[in-house]
Amino acid sequence: MDKTFDVIYGTSVFKSHPEETLYETLRKNGIVLRSACGGTGRCGKCKIQVQGDLSEPDDFEKNTLSTADLARGIRLACRVKARGHLRIERIALLESQTFAIPDPFCAIDRQKIEEGDSRVTTFEKPVNWESEAPSDWAVMLQGDDPVDSSSDLLKQSFSPALAAYLSRKLPRLLLSSRITELYLDDRIRDLLSEEESKYPRYFLAVDIGTTTLTLYLLDSAGNWKGGFTAKNPQIPFGTDVISRVSHSLTPGGSEELRNRLTEKIDQMIQEVKRVFHISPEQIICVGLVGNTCMQQLFWGILPYRLGKSPFRAFTTELLSSNAVEAHFYALEAHTPIVFLPSVAGYVGSDALAGALWCDLDLSQKPYLYVDIGTNGEIMLNQGDEILCCSAAAGPALEGMNISCGMPGVEGAISHVYTGEEGGMRYAVIGNGPPKGICGSGLISLIAWLLQHRILKPNGAYEKHVAVPEHLKSVLWDERGVFRWSIRGDSHDIFLDQQDVRQFQLAKGAIRCGIEILLETSGLGLEDLDRIYLSGSFGNALDRQAAVATGLLPPVDSEKIIYIGNAACKGLSLWLTRRNASERLQTLLKRMRSIRLENHPNFSELFCQSMRLGDFS
Ligand code: FES
Repeated sequence: MDKTFDVIYGTSVFKSHPEETLYETLRKNGIVLRSACGGTGRCGKCKIQVQGDLSEPDDFEKNTLSTADLARGIRLACRVKARGHLRIERIALLESQTFAIPDPFCAIDRQKIEEGDSRVTTFEKPVNWESEAPSDWAVMLQGDDPVDSSSDLLKQSFSPALAAYLSRKLPRLLLSSRITELYLDDRIRDLLSEEESKYPRYFLAVDIGTTTLTLYLLDSAGNWKGGFTAKNPQIPFGTDVISRVSHSLTPGGSEELRNRLTEKIDQMIQEVKRVFHISPEQIICVGLVGNTCMQQLFWGILPYRLGKSPFRAFTTELLSSNAVEAHFYALEAHTPIVFLPSVAGYVGSDALAGALWCDLDLSQKPYLYVDIGTNGEIMLNQGDEILCCSAAAGPALEGMNISCGMPGVEGAISHVYTGEEGGMRYAVIGNGPPKGICGSGLISLIAWLLQHRILKPNGAYEKHVAVPEHLKSVLWDERGVFRWSIRGDSHDIFLDQQDVRQFQLAKGAIRCGIEILLETSGLGLEDLDRIYLSGSFGNALDRQAAVATGLLPPVDSEKIIYIGNAACKGLSLWLTRRNASERLQTLLKRMRSIRLENHPNFSELFCQSMRLGDFS
């Protein structure tokens, strides 16, 4: 029998084979560590503190961990193997906390949601026992309401599961004198007793990002009631789409990715129900958007064709089913679940929903749409066409892969500016002590460091001696290695050279995409009427900072409009407004996707785009 060693963690004892890493041992036993590389030994995030007989640290561990850390038993779980029985004292677990988010809809947004007819209509009906109709269903579905008077329940409802649910409900309801029919578009969604009709009904809009999950709760008229955000629990299997595709090809990998995602969304739905005192039958429908890989993983479709050129999806169609099929146990089994269609293998339904929100189908003037996410989508409408592309920006602007990065929630530095005395000041979400930096804070901080010549356009830190005396306190010198650093809530908050590089990679990918779309369209910067900047990376974005860092091209900052999470807002529009489905179809027909890597000067443009500040 193969030799194994005991690994004690808390009150549990696991068996570890000498050939497997402790990361693998823990994962087999359901413990998921922090990671940005999927356990492939490149990110340095999977720290554990362990005592016992272990393999020697390799070069990567020696370069990543300090001598003091190694002496204290700190190791990288995906590099270290057991050589005897061990005790794990501390591990860096993936934080899967769910955070409440503030209302993302401004007054103009609300106006947009209110325009157009609602998809939900209700009709009160007296119970008619005298009818000659052949069944009670025929009485319910026929009559003088404006919907199709067919008595075929299956045709008129969303699914056999819903038809069966309504059939079970009907006899009990017929004992009362009035019933309210609730329609979503022209299809019956529910029958409500007098008591049930007193309670509001809701929609859930879910944006599945590679890094961040966002959920909005909307009432049936489209008013925002609340929302939550959480990290995508697939992150331990890699921060980008390609790593997730690779993991889906390992035995059980696809199920693991699907289960982690659906479980987390289900937990978020539970949280919504708990916080807002909502029962499952009050949810009319759940809509979802995300990049094509997330869509395929969500439905359990093996996405291997998305892992290599030409990155084709098995399907880009709108996919709908019910809560059971989606593994959402917090909802009634028959609740309709709809995932919006994708544009192409590398441009997902999140881009489509964003285009809907920004009216790219309605505007005659050229709008540039830039969604800053791990998979950044860029779109430009020009005449009848909407050019679109996807830029592999990585998760830096969503607070991942940055040493002190965090989502745009309480405690995040969201804005950096110069105080009256000329020193550095910062704003923190919630006004408490800082805990980390979110995406908008990162852009603002880089712009500030550039403006004060602490960072050079090539991304390197300036030497301590070259920095003005009154700013020296924010530049930490560790034996000639510099980093921006301030005292935080419980630890130092810093931005080191590696973090600046991560920002440059993200900014380079997005800027390169913008340049290629502009070139393909034949439009110049002066032709752009607006630049819509989308993303959920913190408070209102500093538009001047976005230009100062070179993330956006040099345009008048008045033309830049920060719109928050346009994908989730567009999805909210689609869920609640009657004409949105038709508009979505028009958008799909007009979109032409561009593959950035096919541009003859792609590599050159990308390198040029990584430079900080204006490079044009
Ligand atoms: S280095 Fe271990 S998970 Fe990335």
